[in-house]
Amino acid sequence: MKIGILISGRGSNMLAIVKAVQSGLIPDSKVAVVISDKINAEGLLKAKERKIETLVVGKNGRAREEHDAEIVEELKKRGVELICLAGYMRLLSKEFVRAFPNKIINIHPSLLPAFKGLDAQRQAIDYGVKVSGCTVHFVDEALDHGAIIAQKTVAVIDDDTAETLAARILEHEHALYVQAVRQIAAGEIEIVGRRVVSVKN
Ligand code: GAR
Repeated sequence: MKIGILISGRGSNMLAIVKAVQSGLIPDSKVAVVISDKINAEGLLKAKERKIETLVVGKNGRAREEHDAEIVEELKKRGVELICLAGYMRLLSKEFVRAFPNKIINIHPSLLPAFKGLDAQRQAIDYGVKVSGCTVHFVDEALDHGAIIAQKTVAVIDDDTAETLAARILEHEHALYVQAVRQIAAGEIEIVGRRVVSVKN
């Protein structure tokens, strides 16, 4: 399975997926390209160190549709079959989503459907929840809305700030994301309506 990973920043989830592919934990797969919309994304260096092709597709004042069309073209050119959004901080256009139906997944640092959008960890602190976590889900045309593949809970403690909670959630994001990609690569899950279930043989 050829994987394309989209990032905007640090790239720790991207690196977790790359390591899992290169160690064989995610079977029969290759990370074909890591694409960033930001030229200075830290993750680009991490990908290069792992000998992964990197590409910057900047927005350069273009409309979302035009920017996305270039990314779609680069992904198609490389035969990418699964796209992992890993801290990619731009909304995808519907054209992008429709170009890869049920082939785009995302990790979000909350227990969806709670706290969609930006700063999910701060939203959780401000709301006062006692439990938060992270979610891996398929991407559809609505924000943080597609069918849920996996979730992991993380307790919120009294002294937590958005930053300490984000750091504790991140520790679980890497394993959860790798596990979800592994299940997809191994053909272990399928989407039935809004539910992602194990494939029964
Ligand atoms: C992660 O916490 C990820 O869940 C979050 O950005 C961080 C990226 O870290 N994504 C979102 O908030 C998407 N709405 P990373 O670049 O080190 O993987």
